[in-house]
Amino acid sequence: MEIKDIKIIDILQDGRGVARTESKTAFVEKAVYGEICNIKVNKEKKNFFEAEKIKTLKKSPYYRKPPCPYFYECGGCSIMDINYKSQIELKKNLIKNALLKSAKINIEELEIIESKEFSYRNKIRLQITKEGKLAYNKKYSNDLVEIKDCLLAKDLIRENLGKIENITKEISKKYPNSLEEITIRANDKEILLNIKIKDEKIIPYIKNQYKNSYFNINLINKKEKTNISGKNYLIYNLLGKKFKITMNDFYQVNDNMTEKLYKTAKDFLGENQKVLDLFCGSATSSIAINGDNVVGIEINKNAIKDAKGNAKENGLKDYKFIAKNANYIDHKFIKKEKIDAIVLDPPRAGLDKEIIKTIAKTKIKNIVYISCNPQTLARDINRFQNKGYKLDKIKACDMFSETMHAEVIALIQKM
Ligand SMILES: C[S@@+](CC[C@H](N)C(=O)[O-])C[C@H]1O[C@@H](n2cnc3c(N)ncnc32)[C@H](O)[C@@H]1O
Repeated sequence: MEIKDIKIIDILQDGRGVARTESKTAFVEKAVYGEICNIKVNKEKKNFFEAEKIKTLKKSPYYRKPPCPYFYECGGCSIMDINYKSQIELKKNLIKNALLKSAKINIEELEIIESKEFSYRNKIRLQITKEGKLAYNKKYSNDLVEIKDCLLAKDLIRENLGKIENITKEISKKYPNSLEEITIRANDKEILLNIKIKDEKIIPYIKNQYKNSYFNINLINKKEKTNISGKNYLIYNLLGKKFKITMNDFYQVNDNMTEKLYKTAKDFLGENQKVLDLFCGSATSSIAINGDNVVGIEINKNAIKDAKGNAKENGLKDYKFIAKNANYIDHKFIKKEKIDAIVLDPPRAGLDKEIIKTIAKTKIKNIVYISCNPQTLARDINRFQNKGYKLDKIKACDMFSETMHAEVIALIQKM
């Protein structure tokens, strides 16, 4: 079915356009925010259409020519075809709508701290073709699009992408289809490569060829990790502190914005408190937001090892980092540890209901919630509201320009 003359009024988090037809909402692939177009319905669901744009009738006022030649194919960026100011407006709406829908909170003004648009990512993950070429997944599919550059990656990564591909091509020439995926991380001086391999037989060859590589190279085969050259971690400087981040530890991808994110969290939190940092990773959040007097909980044992090292390196005196599932905490633990305030920074799925119940049983007044998913944040704020809390402050950071993602920081207070 074709529907004509329809306006794209919003963009979903996955980059699809949103249009209202006479009967249902349509989610439209390949559409630009603000344009008027004809669409083809590919699937009719109970409450919506899955569709694709087939013809633009009137260009969007927000349109700009995407600066990346891979944009229309590559699944990495979703809104590079609209100007940056409009990207920010769209994200504001996304966050405001989530809060209104799930928590019945109507926010008039929401500040989003803006980022530099390009060269911001300290980490990119690429697929590797049979011949060793580097590629991203295509939009809306698992097919690959080979790339020679990524405008989002830090300059050091972009400058070295060709050399990195020479390595993956050379290995694949000797052992075709032996490499799966590569994660490239960089600080200001060094690059760390984390290559997922398909067969351990190739390890001796790689070791022999690349043991003296300029890059820090590590291999992952199933769960086994092998260091080939250099280190398996990088050191990052953040707000005057130093952090060791091992290859599988979580670390925010946009260095500049991470500083702004943590400064905002620090402002929301206040000072001179003992803080529980749930989902603390390698303690970058704990140390940058609160400094000393922290208890951190994190499921990744290696991140906890780094957290303890980072605490020591940065001169903390009163700290405890525990390798446990976040739902390990109960109100007795919070009382025993004399916790004054809580920082929450969960993965995209948000918080387990039990954690909210546990926190609500305590007398903790201030909770700073850092979220990369406005939908689960809004759901969890609603759950906190049902337990006698209110949203006091909220701000966002544009951590991920050219995509519909943002980091949101909320101060939730006991009433
Ligand atoms: C968004 S990251 C935040 C890390 C850290 N706060 C930072 O800013 O670097 C979420 C962290 O939660 C950890 N995690 C995921 N599920 C968890 C769970 N059930 N319990 C504890 N930690 C978990 C992940 O390993 C990851 O380090």
